[in-house]
Amino acid sequence: MSRVLMCPPDYYGIEYEINAWMSRSRQSDRARAIEQWQTLRQLIEKTGAQVELLEPVPGLPDYVFTANAALVYGRRAIMARFRPQQRQPETPHAAAWFRDHGYSVETIPEPYCFEGAGDALFCGETLFAGYRIRSDARGQQELGRMLDCEVLPLELVDPYFYHLDTCFCPLGPGQALYYPPAFDDYGRRVLQARIDDLIAVCDDEARQFACNAVALGHTVLTHAGCTHLHEALRQRGFTPIGIPLDEFIKAGGSAKCLTLMLD
Ligand code: ARG
Repeated sequence: MSRVLMCPPDYYGIEYEINAWMSRSRQSDRARAIEQWQTLRQLIEKTGAQVELLEPVPGLPDYVFTANAALVYGRRAIMARFRPQQRQPETPHAAAWFRDHGYSVETIPEPYCFEGAGDALFCGETLFAGYRIRSDARGQQELGRMLDCEVLPLELVDPYFYHLDTCFCPLGPGQALYYPPAFDDYGRRVLQARIDDLIAVCDDEARQFACNAVALGHTVLTHAGCTHLHEALRQRGFTPIGIPLDEFIKAGGSAKCLTLMLD
């Protein structure tokens, strides 16, 4: 059974601007955000996965985006070192949760920034790592040494796709979604060479965070309205489900950002 870490959006809001999506003049609606988050949680539980919860913390509006808390590898949690100072206070809270739940809590060497599973995604045995905007490539090399795995660094070139999980989503070994313009030529070639079934997402749907999908077995959860992607997924035997998550897109996140795989 998969376990997924989430954090209720009690203190979620657009209180600062640290990515191209966020604007304090476009506030989120608390009630709608809670409703959208609960729908996502229920659908995750319906796949048979178990949801674990972080305790929300006042003054940490982005703590809901648990994907960034850490990268979990077995019983090891490699904690984030956030680039934006606004998110740095999240880490001690998340680290306490991992410690209390029996994980070995680790960090990559200083001074490198690393934003957890937002920028580090396994596809098969290989770790695909997004760098430049939020995480540092050198830190990801250190991460590869710590985990003793192959790391393929991918430079992110578009400020709207600032974490790897906004433009890349593994579905299983050798299978993934990606948004080609978010990468440079070299990154695109690496992905094409290393992933047999690489599904390109179109511009419109990429901007609806189509790549920020939660893949649990055959179920794939995305923001509503990603029709082309859903068709491509159905052809491959997946069951895509769209749910409105626009309250979180205001902060630059969607389904995947709101979750962290614990296995
Ligand atoms: N406002 C948050 C930030 O800019 C959104 C994080 C989205 N998380 C993700 N894994 N893409 O840090």
